[in-house]
Amino acid sequence: MNIINFHLKNFRNYDDESVTFVPGINILVGNNGQGKTNIIEGIYYLLTGKSYRVQREHELLKWDKEDFHLYGDFIVNHHKIFLESHFQDRKKRVKINHVPCQRLSDFVGTINVIFFSPDDLIMVKGGPSERRRFLDLHIAQIRPGYVRLLNAYNKVIQQKSALLKSYNEKSLKSSQLQLWNIQIVELGTKIILHRDELTKRILKVADEIYKNITSEKEKLTISYYALGKKNSQDAIKEFPDLLNQKMDQEIDRQMVLVGPHRDDLQILLDDKPARLYASQGQQRSMVLSMKLSELELIHQEKGEYPLLLLDDVLSELDSFRRNYLIKFIETSHIQTLITMTSAEKQLESGAQFYVDKGHIRRREG
Ligand SMILES: Nc1ncnc2c1ncn2[C@@H]1O[C@H](COP(=O)(O)OP(=O)(O)OP(=O)(O)O)[C@@H](O)[C@H]1O
Ligand SMILES: [Mg+2]
Repeated sequence: MNIINFHLKNFRNYDDESVTFVPGINILVGNNGQGKTNIIEGIYYLLTGKSYRVQREHELLKWDKEDFHLYGDFIVNHHKIFLESHFQDRKKRVKINHVPCQRLSDFVGTINVIFFSPDDLIMVKGGPSERRRFLDLHIAQIRPGYVRLLNAYNKVIQQKSALLKSYNEKSLKSSQLQLWNIQIVELGTKIILHRDELTKRILKVADEIYKNITSEKEKLTISYYALGKKNSQDAIKEFPDLLNQKMDQEIDRQMVLVGPHRDDLQILLDDKPARLYASQGQQRSMVLSMKLSELELIHQEKGEYPLLLLDDVLSELDSFRRNYLIKFIETSHIQTLITMTSAEKQLESGAQFYVDKGHIRRREG
């Protein structure tokens, strides 16, 4: 999957700017605060419908502007497609080849993208929600109905939560809760199965990559814990009973306590929780391994590598891991956009683009 060109209008610090990329490595060079990350964020937003930096689209609008517009030509499966996203009057409209998409979920995954920045360390260091997000974002890209499934599940959780907080009598509450629980089991089981399958597939690839990156003998293990259990099949079998057992507690605490919205991905290094025991460098290598596994999995699934966006990643890696990453990208012919500041040691390969105060120009030679 490739991006051919990209246009930004009134997005962040861009007025009206366009850029044509090359198939291999594209390096965006510039001083701090010039708009390198904004390009990466714009492409990510166009392809996923979400920004990884802000919750509200409003913040992506160039200051004092009313609407922003992002569009570009891409190649998937040897076909050229034109994608656009237009944000106006607090609404976003997306089109594929000029045809409006009714639902964002029909649009997401058309072109796959993997984004990687130093903030991704939060996958290891942060709380369970970060790891669920990592899994969900990946599944959403390869399973067309997954965003809808997650939205439906979250809606049920919100409604059940509202019921738990209401002033209904306990007996009345229990019978109403049963109805929500049926839906929680139905939708939640599907979510667990998707996440469990992905985790197993990541594990197969990630441990191997980790060994190559570190040339160490530590073992990387990743397991999905559904409903607090390591075996997801057991969790699914016990799901309805667990909901019944916890009902009183849920009523007392006014919280939805059982379901995949509380699940976690356990990351171990030599059987010890990486979050607590792995060094900063080991944690970085783990995240890099998991990200590279994502690239491999999308390749297995779709027969093509996704677009890879690396924001400030190279400066964070030591020369061994940096070389490993570049070699991986080059040998797999993955189209990659890399940001770096002018002060950093430049890469030998790749087309260079100079980013300066919201303008992008290709550096020849
Ligand atoms: N909504 C907005 N409207 C206009 N300008 C914005 C908006 N949001 C951010 N900016 C500006 O965009 C610039 C930051 O761009 P960006 O984050 O892409 O920088 P960068 O080139 O990646 O820098 P660094 O090397 O420090 O990471 C800042 O100057 C900021 O003031
Ligand atoms: Mg930046």
